[in-house]
Amino acid sequence: MRLIIQNNYSECSKWAANYVAYKIKAFRPTAKKPFVLGLATGSSPLGMYEELIQMYKTGKLSFANVVTFNMDEYIGLGPNDAQSYYNYMYQNFFNHIDIPKANIHLLNGLTKDYLKECENYEDTIRRYGKIHLQIGGVGSDGHIAFNEPGSSLSSRTRVKTLTTETIEANSRFFGGDMSKVPTTVLTMGIGTIMDAEEVLIIATGDKKARAIHHAVEGSINHMWPISILQMHQHGIIVCDEPATNELKADTVRYFKDIENQLRPKIK
Ligand code: GLP
Repeated sequence: MRLIIQNNYSECSKWAANYVAYKIKAFRPTAKKPFVLGLATGSSPLGMYEELIQMYKTGKLSFANVVTFNMDEYIGLGPNDAQSYYNYMYQNFFNHIDIPKANIHLLNGLTKDYLKECENYEDTIRRYGKIHLQIGGVGSDGHIAFNEPGSSLSSRTRVKTLTTETIEANSRFFGGDMSKVPTTVLTMGIGTIMDAEEVLIIATGDKKARAIHHAVEGSINHMWPISILQMHQHGIIVCDEPATNELKADTVRYFKDIENQLRPKIK
């Protein structure tokens, strides 16, 4: 696992956006061989989306041959709901770049047949081969996508019920009203996320410190879904200093040292 420790949210966003851009360009995607990018919502990737939009607007990056798969969606919310993840993605990213609509994949929270929707999603990812780079955030309880604590570490795309902790955390997007937050969701499974060639998690602020401790120093355990990243061949966490507050000084020193050694060779 790589742990990239930056000074603040803005630096994390820039790092993540530069990494996404670097991977897309290095892949040299075409219409027949698109780059498959997994995306996420929440506050964590917002700054990265802003950076990527800037790169597109200044002609440095194109998404014409990028295919996307979003991680999750609330059941019962659709394109016309301000708080749907569909809406979030169009408002904060897709409306501002050159990605063809046909390349965008989001779970349909309004589906009548959840099972079929989830199976189709998995099939569609499989038809593209794999997700090349999956972006994600992490909940303060260690959830990834909407895989709450206790989720099977080999789960696939399915229906999940949210914990009170997540409903409370996400109520800030619903005017602070917990009763407005849907309690069930469709989400990629942990197995689905782990199948991506690379997984990049953005975690900032001291609210994420406990999750980062479990991700980096804890043992792999379904009660901390993020800890499965230890099993990924190419797992990256980019975090700010406050998010490292519960790591041992030695751990922080180790990862900073490794990155300092790598930097001249990678860039
Ligand atoms: C939600 C999303 C997750 C996200 C998490 C953290 O529950 N489903 O994908 O990682 O919130 O959100 P934030 O980045 O706003 O802290």
